[in-house]
Amino acid sequence: MSEKIILGIETSCDDTSIALLKGDQKDVLALKKLPELLVLNSFSQEMLLEKWGGVVPEIAARNHMEKIVPLLKETLKKADLKLKDIDLVSVTTNPGLLGPLLTGITAAKSISLICEKPILGVNHLYAHLEAIHLTEYVSYPYLGLLVSGGHSLFFKVDSPTKFEILGNTIDDAAGEAFDKGGKLLGLGYPAGRIIDELSKKGDPKKYQFPIGLEHSKSCDLSYSGVKTSLRLFLETNQNESYEFNDVVASYQEAIVQALLKKLTFAEQKFFELTQIKSPHIVLGGGVACNSRLRELLQTKYKDRVHIVKPQFCTDNGAMIANYALRTFDQKIDFPECLNLDPRNQFVSKHEKLEKARKN
Ligand code: KG4
Ligand code: ZN
Repeated sequence: MSEKIILGIETSCDDTSIALLKGDQKDVLALKKLPELLVLNSFSQEMLLEKWGGVVPEIAARNHMEKIVPLLKETLKKADLKLKDIDLVSVTTNPGLLGPLLTGITAAKSISLICEKPILGVNHLYAHLEAIHLTEYVSYPYLGLLVSGGHSLFFKVDSPTKFEILGNTIDDAAGEAFDKGGKLLGLGYPAGRIIDELSKKGDPKKYQFPIGLEHSKSCDLSYSGVKTSLRLFLETNQNESYEFNDVVASYQEAIVQALLKKLTFAEQKFFELTQIKSPHIVLGGGVACNSRLRELLQTKYKDRVHIVKPQFCTDNGAMIANYALRTFDQKIDFPECLNLDPRNQFVSKHEKLEKARKN
């Protein structure tokens, strides 16, 4: 097998992102060579959505519609390539918001049809974790922790297409806890990055906010309690003087400590399934940008923890192209087979194809 140029399109939420990636599947899977990112070109709607206080699916979809073609043109120009040079088109199909997903899938199908190139639908969650392989060699199985705006999951990852859920949030995702807490604190949207910055100037031990499911030995997470407790704190202390940054840092600390605590239970579960005592841990998703989380994990797990580089943590086309590079096979899909699957979190196109082949 030879090197392929892969186009990656990501539009599942509020980032329009397109990448061109070059790599040889055999080499990347054999941990011989990392893929080469030719261009990553993204447009974040954060500024446009701030006035709405969050993502409005219809507005996000319209913004993707406006941006996707100019972004694609620009990406090709930067890479000095033409559409015909692309060997494989890849696009997020699930999970995500219906309208935003549709814009990316329609663009991808059109390119595939016009250029007569195969197309692969990519599971956004798997792509977040596997993004580690854009810059590092990590072997399987590994323990994956995916923390984003919509999801917080522990996975046992046996191969690029074999993911087993070990734990999940029972209510809000970690990113939601940042964003909703940020709203209560009067910070902008999305608040994760702002809370991260303000926390550097505050004392994380000043106030105690609760850790969800603290006394349960499962590796499930819960973030609704911490958010309520922040709301109650702010209501009760309306007229009191408190150091704002201490509150922010303490709130962030509760979110982060919950992940650390539950990670030890996830390790236990991973051990029961694999007999591997000290597994490699991969952290991905937008919340993996958080500097406190990165610092605490690196201090505790040292070389055993692999954290996706910040530029590949938040939604991006490079992780989609990278996932496609690692998972495409010769019986690849053509546009008529590819459909969006907004609510499906866990079944990748590959699993579906496997099932179809078996039946
Ligand atoms: O993965 P992502 O870009 O989108 C989803 O798939 O949801 O993650 C976005 C989430 C948002 O909730 C945002 O507040 C959070 O990632 N985030 C952060 C940081 N940067 C982004 N959370 C904490 N600290 C950060 N530095
Ligand atoms: Zn994401």
